[in-house]
Amino acid sequence: MNLILLGPPGAGKGTQAKLLSEGLGLWHISTGDILREELKAGSDLGCLAKTFIDKGELVPDSLVIKLIEKKILEAKGKNGFILDGFPRNLAQAKSLDSIFKIYNLSIDWVIYFEASQKTIVQRLSGRRVCKVCFANFHLNNMPPKKENICDYCGGELYQRPDDNEETIKNRLRVYLKSASLLIDYYEKQKKLFKVNADFNAEKVYQILLKTFEEKKPN
Ligand code: AP5
Repeated sequence: MNLILLGPPGAGKGTQAKLLSEGLGLWHISTGDILREELKAGSDLGCLAKTFIDKGELVPDSLVIKLIEKKILEAKGKNGFILDGFPRNLAQAKSLDSIFKIYNLSIDWVIYFEASQKTIVQRLSGRRVCKVCFANFHLNNMPPKKENICDYCGGELYQRPDDNEETIKNRLRVYLKSASLLIDYYEKQKKLFKVNADFNAEKVYQILLKTFEEKKPN
């Protein structure tokens, strides 16, 4: 099964992608994580991406599309994959269709995470991320077992620099500019379903599993 996760920053796409990837054996492809990995490695691409990420702007399509094609090729032939944070606009969605055509792939479902503004702000302001493995935590909703230490790899947790009030506002603005076009695009293809992402993570996950089961072709 190949999935796309769409939704505003902080809606819980990364959290659900991790649960789905562990639960269903799907490959998790997060453009945000890939760009942060590039930055951590000090590559030219990472340094260039930082100038956009820090302002809450999209990294240029040409760079992100190349990265995603490479990752999709790596995931091809496996159990399936989850695209988390891609596509972000119509140009990326159309490029993705072209990539799929070349490699004879298709998307099964596009899940749109609906979250209130109150939820988004609460989640992003309390988010903490592992410096080493990029696992997500939240100071109140999903605290780590040991303060500031990743449960999975023991790495140090930090607050993403783009999780500050001003950048969050811009990320939301950028998101809203293309969200409805993307939703229409996938609704027309009858691939989109919406999930109420205000629920806790376990409940959202259970809703997703139930929906996949119900939508399974007989
Ligand atoms: P990216 O890293 O993709 O950020 P985002 O889309 O803004 O999404 P987030 O990671 O902020 O939120 P999320 O929905 O994954 O929420 P999470 O699960 O972490 O992108 C960052 C930047 O990279 C972009 O601004 C752009 O510059 C660039 N970029 C990325 N992709 C690009 C592309 N395709 N094109 C161009 N540029 C691109 O959850 C948030 C918090 O809430 C966590 O603390 C979590 O523990 C908690 N939480 C999650 N779910 C729940 C729940 N159900 N209940 C309670 N708490 C929860």
